[in-house]
Amino acid sequence: MSKIILGVSSSVSIYKSCEIIRSFQEKGYDVQVLMTKNASKFISPLLFKALTGNKVLMDLFNDGVSEDILHVTLAGEAVLFVIAPATANVIGKMASGISDDFLTTFYTAATCPVLVAPAMNEKMFLKGKTQDNIRKLQAAGVRFIEPEKGYLACGDHGYGRLAPVSGIVEEGVLLIRKSRSLKGMTVLVTGGPTREYLDSVRFLTNRSSGKMGFELAGESERRGAKTIFISGPGNLISNPGIKSVAVETAKEMKEQVEKYAGGSDIIIMAAAVCDFKFPKQISGKIKKDSMPLEVKLSRTEDILSEIGKNKGTKVVVGFAAEAKNTEENARKKLVKKNLDIIVANNISKKGIGFESDRNDVTIIHRDGKTIRTGEKSKLEISKIIMDEVEAVIGRKNR
Ligand code: CTP
Repeated sequence: MSKIILGVSSSVSIYKSCEIIRSFQEKGYDVQVLMTKNASKFISPLLFKALTGNKVLMDLFNDGVSEDILHVTLAGEAVLFVIAPATANVIGKMASGISDDFLTTFYTAATCPVLVAPAMNEKMFLKGKTQDNIRKLQAAGVRFIEPEKGYLACGDHGYGRLAPVSGIVEEGVLLIRKSRSLKGMTVLVTGGPTREYLDSVRFLTNRSSGKMGFELAGESERRGAKTIFISGPGNLISNPGIKSVAVETAKEMKEQVEKYAGGSDIIIMAAAVCDFKFPKQISGKIKKDSMPLEVKLSRTEDILSEIGKNKGTKVVVGFAAEAKNTEENARKKLVKKNLDIIVANNISKKGIGFESDRNDVTIIHRDGKTIRTGEKSKLEISKIIMDEVEAVIGRKNR
């Protein structure tokens, strides 16, 4: 039986955790409860033990029995970690990497999808620090289910009530399904800019933070795919579940893409590959007086076009950075490069895209189906793109 780990912290809405347990059990899951010490002041662990048939875990060191590695064992078994209700304190600890009880230590060890359902007073929920912590965790792939407006335990009427049990359970089951949807597949994602050097200190590059590729690689990994992320220079922290390959030049990126493309089922070229290079890279630093002011450039190879030529049954996704006629130009690139999907970016929109966590893209399929995402976080956009990739896989397998 698949195991769901339910983290319970000290909010008045803790009584709803019992219903969450029952609903997951009705769907065939085994539930293991982890409680904070304060939560046990509201409800005795005995009730959760009676409901689940599993001993409730609270401390790392209990009854002289070594539970200190149990979090690692459990992490290997869990298909989902739900924290409901989640207090501001638990969210803060998770965001800061504090692991001082079983629940927070388990989060640090967990590799399964994580769903957090906050419940607290409205002022606490809307506080800048709480929102910062939520954003930080969202950026790390944690899914949040927003609290509702209504009567709060403190007597206030406001935002902060635990989301409905049915919503939490549905979202949890969806996360589990998604976390397996690409199991058995290999996904190759590229991201970031490339650099084409003139000498050892000067280079030509494209504006790109690499965040879009990074989010796509993360989403692919969360869906269970073996994921390879080939990225140009950037300062994104790598995810231990993803094979990361760092490159600098378009030539290096091409070599690495070719190395992994054969074994990949899905290739997503989100990298902003520099189209031009200097005829030859000079080692050392050219003295400015000896540098001619006109430099001849040559073209780098188009990696995606090469992939498109021999794509076979692979699903190939390209990006298009366009300053005008975005969708029309993107469609032309889709045909020219023989792609299944192209993601069109209108680079003239201010405040999104480059170096931003947000974007607004149009996803165009080969058959013309077009999805306009509207402005969203790159994480959300990566999910929409991966859903569309899965739709192509579904069509190919029909
Ligand atoms: N691309 C590539 N190799 C290159 C240039 C681009 O693989 N040398 C890929 C990008 O990763 C992207 C797609 O091709 O997925 C389109 O890139 P874009 O810069 O929008 O278009 P270009 O083909 O370079 O054409 P143009 O610059 O004229 O718009």
